Amino acid sequence: MGVIKQSFGFTKEKREASRFTITNTLGMKAVVSDFGAVLVELHVPDKNGAAADVVLGGETVSDYEGNGCYLGATVGRNANRIAGAAFELNGVKYQIPVNENSNNLHSGPQVYNERLWESEYGDDEMGSYVTFSLHSPDGDQGYPGTLDISVTYIVSAEENSLMIHYHGICDKDTIVNLTNHSYFNLGGHDSGTILGHKVWIDADYITEATAEAIPTGKLLAVSGTPMDFTTEKLVGQEIGADYEPIINGGGYDHNYCLNAYDKTAAEHEIALVARLSEETSGRSMEVYTDLPGLQLYSGNFLKGTFVGKGGYRYENRTGICFETQYYPNAVNEPSFPSPVLKAGEEYDTTTIYVFKA
Ligand code: GLA
Repeated sequence: MGVIKQSFGFTKEKREASRFTITNTLGMKAVVSDFGAVLVELHVPDKNGAAADVVLGGETVSDYEGNGCYLGATVGRNANRIAGAAFELNGVKYQIPVNENSNNLHSGPQVYNERLWESEYGDDEMGSYVTFSLHSPDGDQGYPGTLDISVTYIVSAEENSLMIHYHGICDKDTIVNLTNHSYFNLGGHDSGTILGHKVWIDADYITEATAEAIPTGKLLAVSGTPMDFTTEKLVGQEIGADYEPIINGGGYDHNYCLNAYDKTAAEHEIALVARLSEETSGRSMEVYTDLPGLQLYSGNFLKGTFVGKGGYRYENRTGICFETQYYPNAVNEPSFPSPVLKAGEEYDTTTIYVFKA
């Protein structure tokens, strides 16, 4: 149990970044960095008790500057896409930068995951933790309001789980939709593709999307389609299907509308929403969240250009992301759960990844 702080090297601007190793006594170890509040390493035991690092990542801070892969990234102020890179809030029109087709993706180019965050760490009754905080000024990335955010990574003392708790408060109404963009590979980050992993997602619908991955506003029933993970199946089973959403996404890159989320409730419970498993290692990972959506992304844009930990090249589909989130473009779709944070109110959400073997 505990947290150890070490150097993570120097940024292009010659600022030193740190890495924090968080452990429990059950064989789990997470490494996070104040550069981008990224998750760098996550070691969990297999069925024989042997640990492997199950997330894709780099070795030093420079690996995380400008690679465009969002490895282990804390994405914000708004994760995923905003159509036309524009929205209206309280009668005011906002234009944010266009960085994919005519849209905005992941609030780039001034991404949160390439900034140095403040850090604080310790142990409490739940386990060992690191909290990263970021001050995002009014107008940052084009969004209204001065937003103060924190992201806490907690390695549980009682089970092999990593909890990510997000908190934010803003002085004006704004959008807040943070996610973690870790690519998981339960065979180990250097073990090849994730096509042989099994996935289960408790979602009967995805948000129907255009070829540019912008929701049309309609929901699409997954039943009987390659998108259906309500019964566990191999990622590779239908990833090559001749089915428009799969073709548009180049594989899985879709927002699942989580059944557990009750749109009418004022408070949202943390529920089990998805599971990933890999037979050879015997490892499985359960995803818990209180958010309405989950972007299942099968690493379709990984092209072997990024050389990761141990000099390993991350080829196509060598990691899979479970990005818990508000639905893409939710700010422009009144029928979707709203990503608007009202002035003075608290943004407070939790996602937990639980590992078993
Ligand atoms: C999200 C998007 C993908 C891709 C990745 C980053 O998962 O939905 O389309 O942009 O981020 O590579």
